[in-house]
Amino acid sequence: MSSSIHPLRGPIAAPSILSADFARLAEAAALVDPARDWLHCDVMDNHFVPNLTFGPLIVRALRQFSTALIDVHLMIEKPETLLKPFREAGADLLTVHPEACPDPAATLAAVRATGARAGLSLKPGTPLTAAERWLEDLDLLLVMTVEPGFGGQAFMRDMLPKVRAAREWRARHGARYLIEVDGGISPATAPECREAGADVFVAGNSVYRQPDPARALEALRAAIR
Ligand code: DX5
Ligand code: ZN
Repeated sequence: MSSSIHPLRGPIAAPSILSADFARLAEAAALVDPARDWLHCDVMDNHFVPNLTFGPLIVRALRQFSTALIDVHLMIEKPETLLKPFREAGADLLTVHPEACPDPAATLAAVRATGARAGLSLKPGTPLTAAERWLEDLDLLLVMTVEPGFGGQAFMRDMLPKVRAAREWRARHGARYLIEVDGGISPATAPECREAGADVFVAGNSVYRQPDPARALEALRAAIR
């Protein structure tokens, strides 16, 4: 199945399957409405972050039963060799960390060469000023609101100034990237991110670890409208 409708305008909820039951991936993907939401996939390599998750195999599996935009967050060192496999598996958007790439400009160019949209993700300790030279042609700027590595961590409110700065930079330079927040996002924390300028809201535990994930996702959609 290929993705058909790609909403590239916020606000967008992006459930993170990292928090889903991997024995029921199809059900987890089915919650995501292709007309409104994205499906967020967290790829970790046990080097860039101290956790290990999954590769293109799972993206390919998700692509079988979802037409939603597949948003792949690569928390891996030197991602170049895996860009094509992820793209061929069905990724629509590939987001890399500048902290994990020797030459982020080259990596972003390599992402575009696959035909995917290109995103850049900043760890909490990386200021926006360190990434300005790559912002011009980006499709997505991910402002991490936890230290990458694990779901279920507490939202870092002190990242909101970076979200605001990203919005101001975009307006000043006529850039087009969407601003995504990731980590500790819930109906309680999403509105302040929206207010600061976020367009895409990644949510793991606040969707998939709730008694009724469909209802939890609806609450998130309502909180960001
Ligand atoms: C963390 C990941 C997140 C994670 C968010 O490194 O990038 O996408 O799944 O999980 P929650 O929403 O539970 O903080
Ligand atoms: Zn993520």
